[in-house]
Amino acid sequence: MSTTLRELLVAERESEACSLSGDISDKEDSTTTSPLFSSEEELSPENLKKNTAPAAFLLDLKLSENLDKEELTKSSEFITLEPATIVDNSFEESEPSYSSVKEVLKTAEESPFSSDLKCKKLSKISSDLKIELVTLTDLIKEPSATLEKVIAKSVEKCEAEGEATVSEESAVITSREVVGGRTTETDEATVSVQINECVSDNAKSTALTLKQCPSVGVKLDVSDLNIFQRLNGGGLLLSPESCTMVDEAWERLSKSYVYFKGKPVGTLAAMDTSADALNYNQVFVRDFVPSGLACLMKEPPEPEIVRNFLLKTLHLQGLEKRVDNFTLGEGVLPASFKVLYDSDQEKETLLVDFGASAIGRVAPVDSGFWWIILLRSYIKRTRDYALLDRPEVQKGMKLILKLCLSDGFDTFPTLLCADGCSMIDRRMGIYGYPIEIQALFYFALRCAKQMLKPERDGKEFIERIEKRIAALSYHIQTYYWLDFTQLNNIYRYKTEEYSHTAVNKFNVIPESIPDWVFDFMPLRGGYLIGNVSPARMDFRWFLVGNCIAILSSLVTPAQATAIMDLVEERWEDLIGEMPLKITYPALEGHEWRAVTGFDPKNTRWSYHNGGSWPVLLWLLSAACIKVGRPQIAKRAIELAEQRLSKDGWPEYYDGKTGRYVGKQARKYQTWSIAGYLVAKMMVENPSNLLLISLEEDKKIAKSRIVRSNSSSF
Ligand code: GLC
Repeated sequence: MSTTLRELLVAERESEACSLSGDISDKEDSTTTSPLFSSEEELSPENLKKNTAPAAFLLDLKLSENLDKEELTKSSEFITLEPATIVDNSFEESEPSYSSVKEVLKTAEESPFSSDLKCKKLSKISSDLKIELVTLTDLIKEPSATLEKVIAKSVEKCEAEGEATVSEESAVITSREVVGGRTTETDEATVSVQINECVSDNAKSTALTLKQCPSVGVKLDVSDLNIFQRLNGGGLLLSPESCTMVDEAWERLSKSYVYFKGKPVGTLAAMDTSADALNYNQVFVRDFVPSGLACLMKEPPEPEIVRNFLLKTLHLQGLEKRVDNFTLGEGVLPASFKVLYDSDQEKETLLVDFGASAIGRVAPVDSGFWWIILLRSYIKRTRDYALLDRPEVQKGMKLILKLCLSDGFDTFPTLLCADGCSMIDRRMGIYGYPIEIQALFYFALRCAKQMLKPERDGKEFIERIEKRIAALSYHIQTYYWLDFTQLNNIYRYKTEEYSHTAVNKFNVIPESIPDWVFDFMPLRGGYLIGNVSPARMDFRWFLVGNCIAILSSLVTPAQATAIMDLVEERWEDLIGEMPLKITYPALEGHEWRAVTGFDPKNTRWSYHNGGSWPVLLWLLSAACIKVGRPQIAKRAIELAEQRLSKDGWPEYYDGKTGRYVGKQARKYQTWSIAGYLVAKMMVENPSNLLLISLEEDKKIAKSRIVRSNSSSF
């Protein structure tokens, strides 16, 4: 019997209807805690240890994926994505099926600032410095005035002055070079865009000077935020109801919303006004994932922003992407985009970065994978099949897959990557086959397999995916896995072996094993190492890769349990005083110089080089719950709660134990906020995990039982 995501979801809905049957694994949308973790008692470490991985994997039972695909009755006429165009009509196109989502879901109450009209008016306010001064004066005169009141006053003033509303027209611009590498801006947030060949003729004809679109949730300009932070002890002025950390986080999250043509399309990377914006005033694809998940997990959910984000970024995928004279693959999704507002022409414009503006000029390999993963979460939550069936959505997925499933010179099923192509977006010695990307690749392939329609070339893609995931899981489970036994095997490796009988297949020289691994490796536990390629094993721990490997079932249940054992055994190193180390250990001295190229931002125990990133809490929490160890997540969340809000939700912490707010960390970093919310919601309602987790692929699990395996599992 074959099953697709749609069929599984229908089955879930049916079983929800007869939930009295006692089957607990299918209550995806239920607000009650899954009986697996139904009381504090059942959450106790003893009980959970008894359950460990196999029991926890029950959570995913209803997601059991069969390998064949159903024949979908609907025809799939493919349409070509719009070419790069100056007028962006993507929202108009999406209207009809949006109303169908609305029918299914009760839309969440809108924030006072989210209606189209208010958004437009407030956009005008914050792009007008005179009115900023009014808000400042009002606040000083009336310190007790709420932000809303002050803004309302400014709106009145704005109306009295006869300000027009924002024009419906808007534009999309891809920029090869935006003044000085990262986008630079003046204090008034004015950006000079150096137009390049990618921009349509319309755009080229006028030298645009654009103001950053102030269409963020709070509808305030940067200078306003500074003032509020001062008035409110370093934090954005929050409504009196924001008394808990969770309330505060929700409020901050909604204030980071970025609007395009009056609709929310993403969240700003950070809302820190005390530091240079650089590109932190953009919507990053990877950064939006926790924001999107928070909106989907919320009760009632707020799927609109996720839907808009998915369609908007898909639309941007259709643009031509260039770095100098070279054109990037069609399927590449942006690293980030930004809404600019041209007050003269009253136009909103999207400025898109596919890596051509990023430091190091590397395309974000992870963006497309995250896009597919988020699409699945959105469909699972909303059952908006109309969106999934849209030819452009199916085509967008295939374009992403085409980038990584094409034949080449590869001898490994892993994906060859440049340094800096993922969350660690600068030189950190993770070129080659980094686990961070391989795990995401596997996850995205499996999500796509559930969502692709078999019509036309869809079937061929599904077959290629099946072959690739089988090969990839064997490769990763076998060659990336490191535990005490495997470390000992590698330590005793012979070298220079030739032919297929070789045990040391990649000719790793045992002397290259760094000393720290011998101390770090506990007797109980193990992990996927950072990278494997000829004569090179990067033994560093990377959090994202290991957690994604658990969520996507790239690792076996036993390996997943062992990863959690390692986290517990090495708590001081990997969690310390502030969760969560992005990588361990840090590169120091000569190694740091050689590997990072003397990167002053990535000094030892800072930023990507052993810094601690609160955003990673959601990934750890999801992985813990899947493995049946939610108490680990709870412990980490409690640690974060001691400081995160007080410290202003920093982007990252520095130091061996993560004690210090990061040297150049932005405050009010949106994914630190959203990551915390997602972690909280998953621990409180573990069924939320179903939005972001896949059970084991039956075929792969079966083949593992029959094959002989040199690894410990
Ligand atoms: C930094 C991070 C990157 C993130 C971006 C925006 O560059 O390294 O992963 O997407 O900031 O927050």
